[in-house]
Amino acid sequence: MNNKSDILVGVDLTKTYGELAVVKGVSLAVRAGEFVSLVGKSGCGKTTLLSILSGLEHPTHGQAFLTGKEITGASEDELALFRRENVGFIFQSFNLIPTLSAWENVALPLFPIQMSEAERRRRATELLDQMELAHRLEHLPAALSGGEKQRVAIARALINNPKIVFADEPTGNLDTATGDAIMAILNQLHRRKGMTILMVTHEPELAKTADRVLHMQDGEMLS
Ligand SMILES: Nc1ncnc2c1ncn2[C@@H]1O[C@H](COP(=O)(O)OP(=O)(O)OP(=O)(O)O)[C@@H](O)[C@H]1O
Ligand SMILES: [Mg+2]
Repeated sequence: MNNKSDILVGVDLTKTYGELAVVKGVSLAVRAGEFVSLVGKSGCGKTTLLSILSGLEHPTHGQAFLTGKEITGASEDELALFRRENVGFIFQSFNLIPTLSAWENVALPLFPIQMSEAERRRRATELLDQMELAHRLEHLPAALSGGEKQRVAIARALINNPKIVFADEPTGNLDTATGDAIMAILNQLHRRKGMTILMVTHEPELAKTADRVLHMQDGEMLS
């Protein structure tokens, strides 16, 4: 399964909390440019698996590789740098910083990089413009609708030109129409820009729009 075109590989991943195993020997591979969705009942281990594959959490056993590099065993500092350079995240609850404006939220991942304020703002504005939010640059998150918040979060996920985007129920807090608009953006990113996306969703209708659907049940991968 360790094909050269695989951008993401998990091998026999297990995560236990005390006696409780929540991810049980999961192996998977995602090719560069693929849009893969991950479905399964609440509590089956989807978020935990995503956290391991994106380097946010360490597995108890097994290995994870991102862009050919093994991330399991890397130090926290190495992982933080690696995530910043390679990975974008989109969450169900948006995770925007309430005291920062829309453009500052988008520019946040650029702060550790040496760059002028004007350049940071230019890049953030360009992405917000692509998200049709050019008129909301100075708004605080509290003054944005749910769909607008998620579009800001997508812009933030893209600002470092990530090689892969992880999305955990990106439409979970949105009504159907707004969720569909967010899905359309993700599909466009995939089709037009060749973005690799791994997306967790509860909704079979949304999962079906991906190239491939992975099913988890009780910590195990069914397909
Ligand atoms: N830090 C932790 N300590 C103990 N148990 C945990 C921890 N994190 C997650 N779990 C447990 O692991 C199981 C899987 O959780 P996870 O969040 O991965 O599920 P999920 O499939 O994403 O569910 P949902 O669809 O509701 O988001 C759950 O039973 C959860 O309670
Ligand atoms: Mg979850």
